[in-house]
Amino acid sequence: MITITIDQEACKQCYSCIAECPFDLINLNKEGFPQLRKAAVKKCIRCGHCMAVCMADALDISISPLADSDSVNRDLLPSPEATRHFLLSRRSIRSYKKKGVEHSILEDILQTSCYAPSAHNGQPVHWLVVEDSKEVEHLAGMVVDWMKELKVFPGLTRAWDQGVDKVLRGAPHLLITHADPQVSEHPVEDCTLATAYLDLAAHSHGIGSCWAGFLMQAFQHYQPIIDELNLPDDHKVYSALMLGYPKFRYRHIPKRDELKISWR
Ligand SMILES: Cc1cc2nc3c(=O)[nH]c(=O)nc-3n(C[C@H](O)[C@H](O)[C@H](O)COP(=O)(O)O)c2cc1C
Repeated sequence: MITITIDQEACKQCYSCIAECPFDLINLNKEGFPQLRKAAVKKCIRCGHCMAVCMADALDISISPLADSDSVNRDLLPSPEATRHFLLSRRSIRSYKKKGVEHSILEDILQTSCYAPSAHNGQPVHWLVVEDSKEVEHLAGMVVDWMKELKVFPGLTRAWDQGVDKVLRGAPHLLITHADPQVSEHPVEDCTLATAYLDLAAHSHGIGSCWAGFLMQAFQHYQPIIDELNLPDDHKVYSALMLGYPKFRYRHIPKRDELKISWR
C-alpha cells in the first residue's frame, strides 16, 4: 500500500507534484488539493519526486518519507567550472598503492551509486565487492588461464608469468555489477550508469578506478570464472571496476578527439 498525505494548510496548490509525476498518478480532490489516483498502487515507480519537488514540504509519501529525506543544499553544489574540472580530471588508473580503501569509504561511494538514473527507477543493480586483494589477484590469474587456453593476448600472459598483472593491474579491490535481465528492461544502461556514478564518487575521494575490460570479456566466455563469482541464478555481469588509491598523481588533462556533433 502506498499513501500520500497533504498538509492542506501548507500546500500552496502550485501543482508541481502533479506536473512532475512521471505516470500522472496524482490528481486533484474536490477541494483542489493533490491526491493519489488508485492506479498508483500498481504504477508508482517509487521515485519520490512528488515529495522532493514540493516547495512547501506539504506532501509526504509513504515510500519515501519527508522526514527521512535530506534537503538539497545549493551551497554545496559545484560551479559549472568546478564540475567541468572535476569530470575532466578523472583518469583511468592503472597503478595502485598497496594500501586498501577504507571500508566506510567503499560503503559511502556505493551508496552514492544508488542515485544513478535507472529505467523506471527499477534500481536492479547488485554489487559484488571484492575487498580482498588476494581474491582480486586470483581472479586476474583466472583471466590469464582463459587467455592462455585461447592463445590470445600473449603480451599480457607473458607479463603475468613475469609477475606483472596487466589484467587487473594489482588493484586492491574490484567492484562488479550484476543484475537479473528478466527483472530490468535496461540492465546494461542501469549498471553502466551506476558504475559511472561510483567511479566519479571514488574520484571525489581521491580514489582511482579503471574498467576491467579483460575480466568482463572472460565473464562472457569462460565458465570457470563465472562459477567462481557464485552469482544468483539468472544474473549477468554488466561491469567490473578496479579500484584503489592511485600510485601516481596525474598533472595534466590529455586532449580528446574533436567533438562529433551535428545541430539541427
Ligand atoms: C568498457 C571499458 C573497458 C575498459 N577496459 C579496460 C581494461 O581492461 N584495461 C585498461 O587498462 N583500461 C580499460 N578501460 C579504460 C579505457 O582505456 C580508458 O577509459 C580510456 O583510455 C580513456 O582514458 P581515461 O578514462 O583516463 O580518460 C576500459 C574502459 C571502458 C569504458
